Amino acid sequence: MVKICCIGAGYVGGPTMAVIALKCPAIEVVVVDISKPRIEAWNSDQLPIYEPGLDDVVKQCRGRNLFFSTDVEKHVAEANIIFVSVNTPTKTRGLGAGKAADLTYWESAARMIADVSKSDKIVVEKSTVPVKTAEAIEKILTHNSKGINYQILSNPEFLAEGTAIEDLFKPDRVLIGGRETPEGRKAVQALKDVYAHWVPEDRILTTNLWSAELSKLAANAFLAQRISSVNAISALCEATGANVSEVAYAVGKDSRIGPKFLNASVGFGGSCFQKDILNLVYICECNGLPEVANYWKQVIKINDYQKSRFVNRVVSSMFNTVAGKKIAVLGFAFKKDTGDTRETPAIDVCKGLLGDKAQISIYDPQVTEDQIQRDLAMNKFDWDHPMHLQPTSPSAVKQVSMVWDAYEATKDAHGLCILTEWDEFKTLDYQKIFDNMQKPAFVFDGRNIVDSEKLREIGFIVYSIGKPLDAWLKDMPAVA
Ligand code: UDX
Ligand code: UDX
Ligand code: ADP
Repeated sequence: MVKICCIGAGYVGGPTMAVIALKCPAIEVVVVDISKPRIEAWNSDQLPIYEPGLDDVVKQCRGRNLFFSTDVEKHVAEANIIFVSVNTPTKTRGLGAGKAADLTYWESAARMIADVSKSDKIVVEKSTVPVKTAEAIEKILTHNSKGINYQILSNPEFLAEGTAIEDLFKPDRVLIGGRETPEGRKAVQALKDVYAHWVPEDRILTTNLWSAELSKLAANAFLAQRISSVNAISALCEATGANVSEVAYAVGKDSRIGPKFLNASVGFGGSCFQKDILNLVYICECNGLPEVANYWKQVIKINDYQKSRFVNRVVSSMFNTVAGKKIAVLGFAFKKDTGDTRETPAIDVCKGLLGDKAQISIYDPQVTEDQIQRDLAMNKFDWDHPMHLQPTSPSAVKQVSMVWDAYEATKDAHGLCILTEWDEFKTLDYQKIFDNMQKPAFVFDGRNIVDSEKLREIGFIVYSIGKPLDAWLKDMPAVA
């Protein structure tokens, strides 16, 4: 009988293993983590992550063939296939700081596997890792092997948050990279057999190890690049009077380009895009390819530019100062349908506004006050270290308050910034909001979700990313 153990019960490990357990009733799947509260949450009615459809999947298999445990060593020892899905933060210190991946958690997981294993294992890289990590892991395992055979596979996960269950049920592709040896091919086949329970054969791609590792970084870099491309065009639209939605639609109609992932925004966020591109940049630099590194660096520079451009618009349109003014922030998560705030553009926008001494009132349907305070107090790249290593009670940022309703957030505010595209923000009673705001009342739509014409009729001054500017905004140019 196949036994699977997944090390790391996070955004990737949790949902992925739940779906494997659901689709493969004959396989026992145990998800282990060093964080006790995380495992307790997975075993409770309040799962540690919010993901549509996840509760249902977990309920169906938990206790049947899906288990969550802190007994890491026992379950690793018993498994034939071990997925490693621990965090890979960006290094904050030492060689490669601010760019290279910190493989501390990976290395400790690998050493632990070597310590406790008594039988042959297939070790699967699930979390995104720099190219050639498999080689390093292989070295740790084989140098401590006691005669055990280890096969390393790379099986990067392409799910997006908010649609994780859907993506896992119907993946565009499953990618498995392995060694091109008889043992390597056998291990690839074993993992292929797991996915073949529900994924059509032609969607399971097999490659060598390095191609699989690099494909994950490249796919995220390409996606982020599309957003930076449309965001770069959005700045030019504002300068020329073109409308970015019309431009993106026209461009996306070319079947060679395609319509998806062309929504201009205040910037991309999430745990993967920036981290993976920084990683790619670092690998290019280490391989003596500075031109390639600079090419990809530009994707992040445009993303940072887009966020600061947004802050500058807010400040410049309010007579160049927001000091002491109440600004409502609607949405803090990095996109809708998730409570995740990792690398959310809202952090940089709020920090920018705080730098200008604004009073910020935030409403997000899924993010807690505690999380927001932690995010605003944290240094860049600190977020990906496990919770228990983070400062538990950072001193609260006093100019920020969190409220449980969009109307409360906007009451007496001078301006309102939409930073996440939650559906509920489309149908708010904007007349009521306008009536309760200071005048002139401003809306800064960082996700292009409100009907700007309707809001103008109510009396708002409206800024939408990449759309023709109101006369007011034209008179108050923002310098990025
Ligand atoms: C291009 C656009 O495709 C067309 O829509 C526009 O109207 C005019 O410019 P064209 O220059 O005729 O058309 O050729 P195209 O097929 O786009 O190729 C342009 C160049 O890109 C060629 O040198 C081609 O070899 C190269 N190319 C194309 C690649 O190197 N890789 C590819 O995957 C595709
Ligand atoms: C991404 C990849 O999509 C997924 O394949 C990979 O496994 C992990 O990284 P995720 O970070 O969950 O997934 O979210 P995604 O939907 O890709 O959005 C990332 C960011 O881009 C969000 O902040 C989103 O708001 C922004 N975005 C997305 C845009 O600004 N415009 C778009 O058109 C699309
Ligand atoms: P991802 O988004 O890639 O899933 P997360 O940060 O959500 O990443 O999850 C990673 C999980 O891995 C965390 O819950 C963390 O506690 C866990 N973890 C890190 N190192 C180890 C380890 N050596 N053994 C077990 N769990 C670990």
